[in-house]
Amino acid sequence: MTTITLIPGDGIGPEITDAVLEILKASGAELDYDEQAAGLTAFREVGDLIPKELVDSIAEHKIALKGPLTTPVGEGFKSINVTLRQMFDLYQNIRPCRSVPGLKTRFDNVDLVLFRENTEGLYSGFEIWDERRQIADAMARISREGSEKIIRAACDYAKANGRKRVTVVHKANILKKSSGLFLQVGREVAEEYPDLEIDDRIIDNMCMQMVMYPERYDVVVTTNLFGDILSDLCAGLIGGLGVIPGANIGDDIAIFEAVHGSAPDIAGLGIANPSALLQSAIMMLRHLKMIEAADRVENALFKTLSNPEQVTKDLGGNNDTMAFAANVISNME
Ligand code: NAI
Repeated sequence: MTTITLIPGDGIGPEITDAVLEILKASGAELDYDEQAAGLTAFREVGDLIPKELVDSIAEHKIALKGPLTTPVGEGFKSINVTLRQMFDLYQNIRPCRSVPGLKTRFDNVDLVLFRENTEGLYSGFEIWDERRQIADAMARISREGSEKIIRAACDYAKANGRKRVTVVHKANILKKSSGLFLQVGREVAEEYPDLEIDDRIIDNMCMQMVMYPERYDVVVTTNLFGDILSDLCAGLIGGLGVIPGANIGDDIAIFEAVHGSAPDIAGLGIANPSALLQSAIMMLRHLKMIEAADRVENALFKTLSNPEQVTKDLGGNNDTMAFAANVISNME
C-alpha cells in the first residue's frame, strides 16, 4: 500500500474527490490516504490556510493529490498553490494536453506536454509599490540553475517517453537578460541531447502557432508567466480546464492537482465534472509506476467521455458527478 496525502480542497473539491476515490478503488490501485485540509476549509477549521499537519503530511508521504483551493482575494493572502510550490521546491509544472478521443473540441490531433518553470520568473514574489509616485514594479527572476533544471526535466521526459522534439519558449528579443538567459541555457542544454530536435519560439509567435497548428508541437518548455498563459491556452484547444490534469513536481515531492478552481457557482450541487482531478490521479498512478491501474482508469475515462449519454452537464450531458463516476467504473475492463 502506498499512502498519499489527499487534499479534497474547497468548493467542488470534496465532491469530485469522492468520485475519484470511488474510481481509484475500482481500479485496484493499492493506495491509502492521509486526508488533510488546506485553503478556505482549513482556515475555517483551524484558522490557517496551510496548516502544519498538511505540510508535515506532504513531507512524509512525498505524493499528494489535491483538489482546487479557494484563495481569498485581498491583501495579505498569498496564493496557497504558489506557497506550496515554493515551500517544496516543486519547480516543474507539467500539463499534458492530449485530445480526448470522441470529445468534440476545436482540434482532435493535439498531443503535447507543457513544462512550465514553477518557482521563479514574474511569480517570484518581488513586487514593490511606490505610494508617492503611484508606481508598481514587479521583478522577474530567472536563474541559470532554475532554467537548467526545468529544461533538463523537459528533455529527460522527452527522451523517456519517446518524444522527438522540445521547443523552448521565450521573449529574448525584448527581455534580453532574463528571457535571454533562459534561451541561452536552452541552447546549451540542447547539446547534451543530440537525439532530440530542440528549437525555440518567441512567446507571441508561439501563441499564434498553438492556435493554428497545435499538432506540430511535442514537448514545450518555458518560464513561469508564459507557461501559465500557454497552459490554459492549450487546455482551451482540447476541451477546457474541465478535462486537463496538472502536476507540480520537485526532486522528491510531487503534488497532482486539478487545474480548474473551486467553482463556487456550482459547489454543493453534485454536478461538477471530476475528469480533471481523475486525469491528475492517472498522472499520479503513472508517477507511482502503477501503470496497469493508470491504463485501466484512462481507457475507462476516455470511453465515458466519448459517449455523450455518459458525460456531465458542462460537456453537454445529463449525468451528475457520482453518476459519471459510476459510468467510468462500468466502462472499466
Ligand atoms: P473556476 O475554475 O473555479 O470556475 C470557472 C468556471 O468553470 C465556473 O463557471 C465553474 O462552474 C466551471 N468549472 C470549473 N471546474 C469545473 C468542473 N470540474 N466541472 C464543471 N464546471 C467547472 O475559476 P474561478 O471561478 O475563477 O475561481 C474560483 C476560485 O478557485 C477562486 O478562489 C480561485 O482563486 C480558485 N482557483 C483555484 C485553483 C487551484 O486550486 N488550482 C485554480 C484556479 C482558481
